[in-house]
Amino acid sequence: MDILHYQKDFLEFLNNKEWVREPKNLYEPIDYILQLGGKRIRPILTLMAADIFSDDYKKALPAALAIEVFHNFTLVHDDIMDAAPLRRGKATVHEKWDVNTGILSGDAMLILAYQYFENYNPEVFHQLAKLFSKTALEVCDGQQLDVDFETRNDVTIPEYINMIRLKTSVLVAAALKMGAIVAETNTENANLIYDFGLNLGLAFQLQDDFLDTFGNPETFGKQVGGDIIENKKTYLYLKALEVANEEDKGKLSYYYRRKLKENTVKIADVRRIFEQNNIPKLIKVAIEQYTNNAFDTLTKMDISDSSKTNLKNFGLWLMNRSV
Ligand code: IPE
Ligand code: IPE
Ligand code: MG
Ligand code: MG
Ligand code: MG
Repeated sequence: MDILHYQKDFLEFLNNKEWVREPKNLYEPIDYILQLGGKRIRPILTLMAADIFSDDYKKALPAALAIEVFHNFTLVHDDIMDAAPLRRGKATVHEKWDVNTGILSGDAMLILAYQYFENYNPEVFHQLAKLFSKTALEVCDGQQLDVDFETRNDVTIPEYINMIRLKTSVLVAAALKMGAIVAETNTENANLIYDFGLNLGLAFQLQDDFLDTFGNPETFGKQVGGDIIENKKTYLYLKALEVANEEDKGKLSYYYRRKLKENTVKIADVRRIFEQNNIPKLIKVAIEQYTNNAFDTLTKMDISDSSKTNLKNFGLWLMNRSV
């Protein structure tokens, strides 16, 4: 089945829920962020996996909702941590309301996410909750490393890859594995699809980093250059330090040791250094490499060719996206 079909079923399920209740200041931001849209990648993956391993993917809808609500919770808190003004083309929750609202609405979303697991039988519930808790804690680990790296100037590429594995990939991987758990398939299948998700998740975060600097401001939906403003030690930056000459390296590390009030010149200079050093091309190579690692895992899986094609097409779409 095609991706849009899963997305449509998911949206129907999401929109059937009544999000707003008292106190409004707690629940309206939740409704706001969930209705802002987004690609809905993670719930689609949960439904796809459930479809691959069972004949009733719709029973994965509560799990798919859990993962999307959790993801949106991480975005609300991430936007506070990253001082981000824009999300999906609109004001972030802490900008539209305030930071305290973002913190508490986010907390409530984390709890709501867990509640959707109550729809499953005790065995499935246990497995979902176990995977989810492990994953959520890893996301926290990754987010802390991401922030720690802002003020470090000796971050290595392997450290960066580990950080994005934690903050991003494990959730993509868990989304798939949750579909496998709901479908009650065997552990081997569940683990292989998890590995597929881990590699895809790395490619996905690399692409996110690329778009943060080189995306089209008209369509990207987030503040372009935000990672540069915040001194994020992304692959773009780390690769540039590896390949650039002394002058460019000096400029980069000068800029990335400072937080400025006015960032237009910094963003333009950093972008120029990245471009002159062929970084857009080099990050594309890395994205392709991790996507291909994911595709290699597929060959080990004992599923139909059409299922493999669906997962592969999803990966290709992810790699070429502009949002
Ligand atoms: C953004 O995730 C956060 C990352 C892990 C890169 P998405 O790019 O999936 O965000 P939405 O949900 O589509 O807006
Ligand atoms: C997101 O990393 C990771 C989580 C939200 C856990 P980013 O900070 O790069 O995500 P965006 O770019 O703000 O969506
Ligand atoms: Mg962010
Ligand atoms: Mg962040
Ligand atoms: Mg980003």
